[in-house]
Amino acid sequence: MSSTPETELRRTHMCGELTSENIGQVVRLCGWVSSCRNHGGVIFINLRDREGVTQVLVNPSDDEQVYKLAKALRNEWVVSAAGTVRARPEGMRNPKMPTGDVEIVCENLAVLNRADPVPFEPDIPEKVSEETRLKYRYIDIRRSELTGALVMRHRITKCIRDYYDAEGFIEVETPFLTKSTPEGARDFLVPSRMQQGTFYALPQSPQLFKQLLMIGGMDKYMQIVRCFRDEDLRADRQPEFTQVDVEMSFVTCQDVIRVNEGAMRVVAKLCDVPFPETVKVLSYDHAMRDFGTDRPDLRFEMTLHDVTDLAKGSDFKVFASVADAKGLVKGLTAKGGAAFTRSQIDGLAEFCRELGAKGLAWAKVLDDGTLSGSLAKFFTADKCDALKAAMDAQPGDCMMFVADEPKTTNKVLAALRCKLGKDMGLCGRDLWAWCWVVDFPLLEWDQLEQRWSACHHPFTAPLDEDVHLLDSDPGKVRSKAYDLILNGTELGGGSVRIHDVSVQKKVFDTLKISEQESRAKFGFLLDALRFGAPPHGGIAFGLDRIVMIMLQRDSLRDVIAFPKTTSGGCPLTGAPAAVDDKQLAELDIRVIRPPAGLPMPPDDAG
Ligand code: AMO
Ligand code: AMP
Repeated sequence: MSSTPETELRRTHMCGELTSENIGQVVRLCGWVSSCRNHGGVIFINLRDREGVTQVLVNPSDDEQVYKLAKALRNEWVVSAAGTVRARPEGMRNPKMPTGDVEIVCENLAVLNRADPVPFEPDIPEKVSEETRLKYRYIDIRRSELTGALVMRHRITKCIRDYYDAEGFIEVETPFLTKSTPEGARDFLVPSRMQQGTFYALPQSPQLFKQLLMIGGMDKYMQIVRCFRDEDLRADRQPEFTQVDVEMSFVTCQDVIRVNEGAMRVVAKLCDVPFPETVKVLSYDHAMRDFGTDRPDLRFEMTLHDVTDLAKGSDFKVFASVADAKGLVKGLTAKGGAAFTRSQIDGLAEFCRELGAKGLAWAKVLDDGTLSGSLAKFFTADKCDALKAAMDAQPGDCMMFVADEPKTTNKVLAALRCKLGKDMGLCGRDLWAWCWVVDFPLLEWDQLEQRWSACHHPFTAPLDEDVHLLDSDPGKVRSKAYDLILNGTELGGGSVRIHDVSVQKKVFDTLKISEQESRAKFGFLLDALRFGAPPHGGIAFGLDRIVMIMLQRDSLRDVIAFPKTTSGGCPLTGAPAAVDDKQLAELDIRVIRPPAGLPMPPDDAG
C-alpha cells in the first residue's frame, strides 16, 4: 500500500468526542470500521477508536469516489474520514451512544490499511473462548470494556502516584534480577550466563530492597512495580502482577495505616466508590471468630457462632466427638433459610464436602420454635433453646453447622457464608465494605515440615508486649501486621518490620532458619540492620486487584493488557517456550526431559 498523505492522519477529534456542540464543523476522524451497513443506498459506517464510536454517513449522490470506497469497506479496516457534523434526524438519535445525537456526512474517505477477516468481532458480544481472545489480544483490546479498563487502570495508577508524591514519597526502582525474597510462593529463576550454574530470582516483591532503602535514609519510598510469583493461579492471582509498594521510616502501624488508607480513599473517589470516614479495624482473632477468615466480607452480617460447648453434651455423636477431640463446632444462621429446599441444602452440603468438610448438619427453626432437619432429633427442648440463642436463630431461619478440626471448620464455614451471601443477594453491586485486619499471629505451625513458619514474612515485627513469648509460646505471639480487605478480597498487606538485629535473629531461630542459612539467604539484610536501621514499616497493595474490584470485573485478566492463562501461558506469544540448544549451551544448562515441541497452552483460560 502506498504511503499515507499527511492530511489523512491529521485527526481533529477522537471518535468518542463529538456532540451537538460540534454541529456544522468540518472534522476528521481516524479509526477502525466497527460496522458498515447499507440502508437503501446510504452507507452507515460506525468508526471506532479508543475513545468511542461515531457514525459516518456516505450518500450515493455525493462524491462517487468516496461512495465506491465506502462500499468496499470491511470490518476492522483502518480508515480516515472527514466531513461535516450534523444532527441526526429526529427518531435516529441513539441515547445509548455518547455521540448518538450527531453523525458525520462524509466528504473524504481514505483506507489507511485493510484487515483480513478477524477471528472475532470486538464489538459483537458473541461467545468467543477466552483462549481465542487472549491469542488475538490486540483485537480484544479494541473492545470498549477492555479499552475502558486499561484507561481506568492508567488513571488509577496516576492518581496513586500523585497521592504518594504529594505525601513526600520518592519512587525508586529496585532490581528484577535479584535474589529470592520470601513471600510464600516459588521463585521464577533466571540462569546467569556469566556465572554459570547460578541463578537470579525474579522478585516476589521488593521487600528487602525497600527495607534497605529505609536503612539508606530514603525515608518514604513507593514504587509501582511488577512482582513475580510462581504459584497456582486463580481469578485473583497472576504469575506477574503489579504492586503499589510502600515503605516508611519512623512509623507505627497506625501511621502506615493512616497514610496508605488515604491512597485508597483517593482511588475510591476517582472510581466513584464509597469510602467510609473511618475504616473498621478488626483483630485477626475477631475476624476468625466471627467470619472464619482473615479476609472477611463485611457487606453482610451472618456471623459464625461457636457452639463447641453446646456440642459437647449433645447426643449427636459427630458433634460430641469433635468437641471432645479439641475440634471446633461452629455454625451460621441463614435468615429466612427455612425456605431452602432439600435439594438446595444438599447442594450446600456438597459444596462444603468439596472444601474438605465431612458433612453439613442443619436445622430449620419452625414457626412454633421447634427444629426440623438432620439435627433436630438430637436436641431436646432446652438444648434446642440454648442452640437457637447461641445461633441468634428465629423462626423461619436455617442453622448450619460444621464440626471438624478448627482450620477446616473455619475455612468451610467462611466459604459457605460467602456463597450464601452471594446466593441470597446480600452482596449488592452498590455495597462496599472496607476493613483492616490487624494483630495477625507472627507464626503458624507448619504441620508438614513440623516447624514454625512466618505468617506474613520473617521480617515482620512482633508486638512489643508479645516478644517475650517467642521462647515460651511462639504460636501466641502477635505481629505488627495489617491487611486491607475490600468485600472479602485482600487488597494489600504489610507490617512494621524488625529493625533490631537481635530480634531478627531470634525470629530466624524460632523459624529454625540456621545461622548459616540466614547468612546465605539474607546476610546482606542482617548486615544492614547493624549499620543504623531506623524503625520502619510498609505495605503493598495489589494494583491489579484494586482495578479489578473498583471496576467490578470478575478476573484480573479483565484489567491486565496481556495476562497469562491459569496454566501460566501466554496464548499470544506462546510463552513459555523451548529455547534452542545454543542458548542452553551458553548457559551450561541441559534440559533433562525436553518438551515435545512445547504445544500451545491448553484451553483452560476460563
Ligand atoms: P503480600 O504478599 O501480601 O505482601 O502482597 C501484597 C499484595 O499483592 C497482591 N498480590 C497479588 N496480586 C495478583 N496476583 C498475585 N499472584 C498476587 N500476590 C499478591 C495482593 C496482596 O495483598 N512485601 C509484602 C508487603 C509488605 O510487607 O510491605 C508483600 O508482598 O493484593
Ligand atoms: P451422618 O450421621 O453421617 O448421616 O450425618 C448426619 C448429618 O450430619 C448429615 O447431614 C451430615 O451431612 C452431617 N455431618 C456429618 N459429619 C459432619 C461434620 N463433621 N460436621 C457437620 N455436619 C456433619
